[in-house]
Amino acid sequence: MHYGKDRPDVLKHDPFKAIIAPRPIGWIGTLNADGIPNLGPYSFFMAVANNPHMIAFTSEGLKHSAANAKDRGEFTFSLATEALAQQMNISSEAVPDGANEFALAGLTPGQPVEIATPFVAESPAALECVTLSVQQLQDRHGTLMDRYLVLGEVVQTHIRDEYVKDGLFDTVGARPIARMGYREYATVTEAWELMRPDD
Ligand SMILES: Cc1cc2nc3c(=O)[nH]c(=O)nc-3n(C[C@H](O)[C@H](O)[C@H](O)COP(=O)(O)O)c2cc1C
Repeated sequence: MHYGKDRPDVLKHDPFKAIIAPRPIGWIGTLNADGIPNLGPYSFFMAVANNPHMIAFTSEGLKHSAANAKDRGEFTFSLATEALAQQMNISSEAVPDGANEFALAGLTPGQPVEIATPFVAESPAALECVTLSVQQLQDRHGTLMDRYLVLGEVVQTHIRDEYVKDGLFDTVGARPIARMGYREYATVTEAWELMRPDD
């Protein structure tokens, strides 16, 4: 099977997200114009560079997280985990601007160091970011789309002490969750190593 623009009827739903899976979840914290915290999950999300660390997420429509990240020039990332899955899901509800989604989800705002935007204190790890750009995406014909790619530089890294084991971040112990297709999620429950030819 292969197809271009038109998906065959045998595929009940677009499998794109089920193929590009699992995708890490960018649990994005921002502040609105009045300084009220906003929180939302984004699975069009990725780490995109090292030295300095950079991360990016895409907003389908200019949602609060992207608008706030643009206007305030900063945002936070918190690691979404199995233990925090319900809270992550609650924070995905479309609520009016100014609804404190940390409070709605029963989460504690973590105290940032270099920026003003809180992160999820309950999360094993979080990042403070300065917004580098908010780019409206275009398709291959140059037509502007209602999609916004937010790029940020990490300026502070927070790790809860209990997730540092032998000097390493205990990814498996944190049990991060990731988005797949449809309504499916995956949990990181094991790790395996593969040395590089040059190691
Ligand atoms: C796991 C998960 C991943 C999501 N990923 C995205 C995404 O990548 N882009 C997007 O626009 N919306 C995504 N959504 C939907 C947003 O979280 C939702 O529209 C939310 O209300 C946006 O919040 P905000 O307006 O406070 O930023 C996702 C929802 C869930 C549950």
